[in-house]
Amino acid sequence: MKKTSIFLLSLTSIISLFMLVDCIYNYAGATVYQLIFWIIIASLCESLPVYFAKNRVVSVTLAVLLALQLSHGTYLTTIVAATSTVFYIIKTEDGEFKHTFNLPFYKTMANFSNFTISTYLSGLLYDFLMDRFNITINNPYMVIVVFLYFAATFLLNTILVSVFLHIMTGSKIIKTWLQNSLWCLPNYAAIAPIGYFLYVLYQNPMGILYILMLMGPLLLARYSFKLYLESKEQYYKIIQTLTAVIEAKDEYTEGHSRRVAYYVEKIAERMRLSPNRIESLKVAALLHDIGKIGIEDSILQKPGKLTNSEWEKIRQHPRIGIRILDEVAFSPVIKDAILHHHEKYTGGGYPDGLDGKRVSLDAFILGIADAYDAITSDRPYRNALSKEQAVSILREERGRQFHPQVADVLIAILEEEKSDVKQDMGTDIKDLVQNKYLQSAEEAAFTMESGENYKKTDW
Ligand SMILES: [Fe+2]
Ligand SMILES: [Fe+2]
Repeated sequence: MKKTSIFLLSLTSIISLFMLVDCIYNYAGATVYQLIFWIIIASLCESLPVYFAKNRVVSVTLAVLLALQLSHGTYLTTIVAATSTVFYIIKTEDGEFKHTFNLPFYKTMANFSNFTISTYLSGLLYDFLMDRFNITINNPYMVIVVFLYFAATFLLNTILVSVFLHIMTGSKIIKTWLQNSLWCLPNYAAIAPIGYFLYVLYQNPMGILYILMLMGPLLLARYSFKLYLESKEQYYKIIQTLTAVIEAKDEYTEGHSRRVAYYVEKIAERMRLSPNRIESLKVAALLHDIGKIGIEDSILQKPGKLTNSEWEKIRQHPRIGIRILDEVAFSPVIKDAILHHHEKYTGGGYPDGLDGKRVSLDAFILGIADAYDAITSDRPYRNALSKEQAVSILREERGRQFHPQVADVLIAILEEEKSDVKQDMGTDIKDLVQNKYLQSAEEAAFTMESGENYKKTDW
């Protein structure tokens, strides 16, 4: 780490230590047993984050902190928040246990500073609002105070995480904040009522026992999510295996499906398609030529011109693909894009010869990404064409083979590309399929033709 990074990290740690000392000095009204109970509950919540998507975790510590803020005020809440960043153990995917004593010290410092500063400052805002407007806990205006308290916690927490990531990795603060923070906004909204519920339970003489009992369903919910994510992991592994099978069929098409998936994603993102649709399109890209498994190698790898009957067999690959995938519960978007990735905008493509109006935008996106990669790759019957030659073909075929709007988007992307992307693509399929805005659990704790003949109209 650079000296300036160490300096900034040390500075924030010292500031947070001062805040903590202020809290220890001023806290009153809770017994040591209550303090220990809340530290155990908060540390347990930090150690057992709830997964709601792959690598996206949300810890319910914030609910605990809200209950504490309502019950015991800013000082005790900050002490519990600060200590929960030290006393936690997280089990990673490899089965290793990560805790304060085997994690890099700077991560603990960043975590500690983040939690302390955000809890302390939003607590001060809470106190100010309660005093200034003379609000009591049972007052309806409490909803606004809790909303502002959570908004402050969210902003301080996520901005500080983005700043710490900038200090440690040099990432851009605003970009990191937008990519890593906005998704967790609904979780903050969902956690607030849990916090209030914890507070109400805690007011009961048997409150501590009730809160402990609540940990059971929470752990069960967490376990169910883990099982769901493991089955999704298996789904990605099956796609990875099928992609490897397709590519093993023909040495000329090695990496083809992954490159097609890469361009499909770029096009779809620029066309502002929904994340779920982009995800489906990438799976379709990885599996689009799976039907070639059913076609003889002698046809796929034939160096010369194909006979009419051989060509007819090639034209069956989208249909064979759909038959192979028939039993798998893929979305209709995936199956439709695979079936129609060789249709043409003016009609006359295959397998159905549909025109532009009857073919989905998804199939055109997959089709153009597929054609671009086929044109710029070596084939048994020709050498790869240059990117510039490919772009002029895209321009010529815009509105003929290719959907005009999709062609414009791909041309714009290619013209902006600086380096030869093919050289840089070591992308893991799992990464390619999954949402790229995923955050690692650690950060969150701190919060793929073509055997087709290249004839000008049939790539
Ligand atoms: Fe194909
Ligand atoms: Fe292809």
